[in-house]
Amino acid sequence: TAIKLLVLPGDGIGPEIMREVRHVIDWLESRRGLSFDITEDVVGGASLAEYGVPIRDEVIEKAWAADAVLFGSVGDPKWAHVGFEKRPEVAILKLRQELGLFANLRPAKVFDALIDASTLKPDVVRGLDIMIVRETVGGIYFGNPRGIETLPDGSKRGINTEVYTTAEIERVARVAFDLARKRSNRVCSVEKCNVMESGLLWKEVVTDVHAKEFPDVELSHMLADNCAMQMVRNPRQFDVIVTGNLFGDLLSDLASMLTGSLGMLPSATLGAVRENGKFPALYEPIHGSAPDIAGQGIANPIAQILSFAMLLRYSLNKQEEANMIEQAVSNVLESGLRTADIMSEGMARVGTSVMGEAIVRE
Ligand code: NAI
Ligand code: MG
Repeated sequence: TAIKLLVLPGDGIGPEIMREVRHVIDWLESRRGLSFDITEDVVGGASLAEYGVPIRDEVIEKAWAADAVLFGSVGDPKWAHVGFEKRPEVAILKLRQELGLFANLRPAKVFDALIDASTLKPDVVRGLDIMIVRETVGGIYFGNPRGIETLPDGSKRGINTEVYTTAEIERVARVAFDLARKRSNRVCSVEKCNVMESGLLWKEVVTDVHAKEFPDVELSHMLADNCAMQMVRNPRQFDVIVTGNLFGDLLSDLASMLTGSLGMLPSATLGAVRENGKFPALYEPIHGSAPDIAGQGIANPIAQILSFAMLLRYSLNKQEEANMIEQAVSNVLESGLRTADIMSEGMARVGTSVMGEAIVRE
């Protein structure tokens, strides 16, 4: 039966780079015998222009019905001055919320050909391949009480609370251990149990899940501040890192810069496994809609193409096809083709479609 995909290109460079993924999909259909049933729809500014809302309920329903969602990016300066409810970015927030996408997977992988683009010494990052699993719907961004209070003396205090329950920690820990089994079989759990009760519980629960369900995976624990330091000092010591919402936000941005370019990095966000064994999942590049270069045909399509490779790997268990795509990207970079964002001396500068075509051919 056909694989049901919901494709949401969004705004800015979204549609330009999604076109290149469609070529990859066409290739998989004609040369690998896969069959996709694709629905495309508008989100973000594109949806605001057509329907007056950043995302329609109908699109959320289509997302539930699909095997996976491939998302571009949303955001358009044209809609920067409207109220929050009418901002294009609400589309992605709402999708994450409505689909219960609690685990954000951000790989940081260094391609040898791009080693010079990294902000660190080549020796430190060569061969780097780590995966950060960040809890995304709980923690300090959502815990209660929260708000800004006015005190009797007229001054104010701002309040956020970090809350994590056993169930919230267990489910994200399982995602991390599962992933580790498909990689180098190591998980490092990151919190600050030295000063935080929620961190103490985090460590306890992860240790428990490990002992009961994943004793074959190697588990270590690290304090978040030390982890930030270790990630710059010797990032290759890590395989999978699992952490809460706040620390994951910081550490995943840090990790992305170990690799050098925003235009290269994919991500996945996964929800809870349902009775039929399927789980809602959304795949997108970590970069935004890049309005500064939109419409010029120069955006790097690789993050979007690698997001699709993650979709094949994690939602469809098509390991071979995912490997082929990642290898093709690597080979094309080795051959010297570069979009402007990853350009360096002596390389051949190309636009979005030439890069996409080269990857398909490879
Ligand atoms: P951005 O990631 O769109 O762009 C930052 C810089 O990186 C820009 O100079 C851009 O040209 C460059 N860049 C990004 N992706 C690239 C690619 N594939 N190839 C070549 N260069 C690339 O971040 P920015 O400028 O902060 O945000 C622009 C809009 O995107 C905003 O409206 C923001 O809210 C939205 N956004 C949406 C996200 C999403 O849909 N999940 C995530 C991040 C931002
Ligand atoms: Mg961030």
